[in-house]
Amino acid sequence: MAKNIQAIRGMHDVLPVQTPHWQFLESRVRDILGRYGYEEIRMPIVEFTELFKRSIGEVTDIVEKEMYTFQDRNGDSLTLRPEGTAGCVRAALEHGLLHNQTQRLWYQGPMFRHERPQKGRYRQFHQIGVETFGMPGPDIDAEVIAITARLWRELGIEGLELQLNTLGTSEERARYRDELVRYFSAHADRLDEDSRRRLHSNPLRILDTKNPEMAELVGGAPVLEAYLGDDSRRHFERLRGLLDAAGVAHVLNPRLVRGLDYYSLTVFEWVTDQLGAQGTVCAGGRYDGLVAQLGGRPTPAVGFAMGMERLIALLEARDRLPASARADVYLVVMGESAQGEGLALAERLRDALPRLRLLTHCGGGGFKAQFKRADRSGAQLALILGEDELGKGEVGVKHLREDKPQESIPLDRLAGYLSHTLGVQPPARNLP
Ligand code: HAM
Repeated sequence: MAKNIQAIRGMHDVLPVQTPHWQFLESRVRDILGRYGYEEIRMPIVEFTELFKRSIGEVTDIVEKEMYTFQDRNGDSLTLRPEGTAGCVRAALEHGLLHNQTQRLWYQGPMFRHERPQKGRYRQFHQIGVETFGMPGPDIDAEVIAITARLWRELGIEGLELQLNTLGTSEERARYRDELVRYFSAHADRLDEDSRRRLHSNPLRILDTKNPEMAELVGGAPVLEAYLGDDSRRHFERLRGLLDAAGVAHVLNPRLVRGLDYYSLTVFEWVTDQLGAQGTVCAGGRYDGLVAQLGGRPTPAVGFAMGMERLIALLEARDRLPASARADVYLVVMGESAQGEGLALAERLRDALPRLRLLTHCGGGGFKAQFKRADRSGAQLALILGEDELGKGEVGVKHLREDKPQESIPLDRLAGYLSHTLGVQPPARNLP
């Protein structure tokens, strides 16, 4: 027998029992973003490799070792997007969305990184991201953070911590970087291999090391705070004031540097200790330099992205997801002669009650087998149509979740009965 082909490591199917969880989360996020006036943008999943090199940074883990890059048939180097910000800026620039206007955009979809898969870390994962353009002040930083705080509140997710830092301007960071290189060079013998490699290419990332043996050295390193200019300081202080005013608690984390190079000033992460090592469920910050870096006019920007798999894991662990019944009503059809009338009845009910979720039994089988399926569907009611019922012009109604006797309802009263019993409203046009 041929060997089964399996999914690629780190890339997962979302099975029908899980899809309602995804739909629930997606619809809640969409709803909240709509209430804040954000508009959806959809970008391709594949972009020119150059886009990610120029935005995320050549010397980052993502670009150095995690991208799915390939040559297409024209010989162009293309990459499956590892994140959404670069493509969103590219699209906004390409379509003139950034000229003398502000934008509040969001997107969702799969991202690809060739990381070592483990719980909460996948090679194909999904983000919902937000990007705003044209607003330089901390008010919009506070707004995007407030959106995330509202989302957790409305989803009933507790125990997330908002960590906040400022990275200053690129000039301030350059001076700080020199100081870091000096400090770490003086302790070169205590650097691990990764850090030695980063010493001259991306020394800020050394601060982000997960190696416990480096903790003491990193703990003694100079902090960026000391290199911030007045404007950067003021931006950060005002943001913190705004978050306080909005009741969004936060903690300062001077070691928060982020793994992508485009950030300036504000950076933040929402972190939980309930997911093991992969505890960041949402992250973002300001990136005032990126639009110009990709060929546009200087345009202030701030955004974030959340990891959908991690949020779903949190919701599942807390039992915060709606139970998923597939149907309200299951139609049991007994005997071949009832099949035609069964189909016609089902279509009439769907006309009369468009919100009714009606599952019709297909595939034959006796009463017992059909009721088993009816039960598994999660339906409240089973409708029974057999030769007896047909002869009398009625339908049997069995309550699957309640201890009530079976009823017989005349066919012409069935839609009204279902509407009343299940609270499924007929469409407005059918109302008298
Ligand atoms: P990021 O921190 O690379 O930022 O990713 C954002 C979130 O995506 C993470 O906090 C995490 O929840 C999720 N995530 C990242 N990698 C994986 C993975 N391998 N498996 C599962 N989940 C993952 C960005 O992507 C930026 N574009 C965010 C941003 C938007 N900044 C400004 N605008």
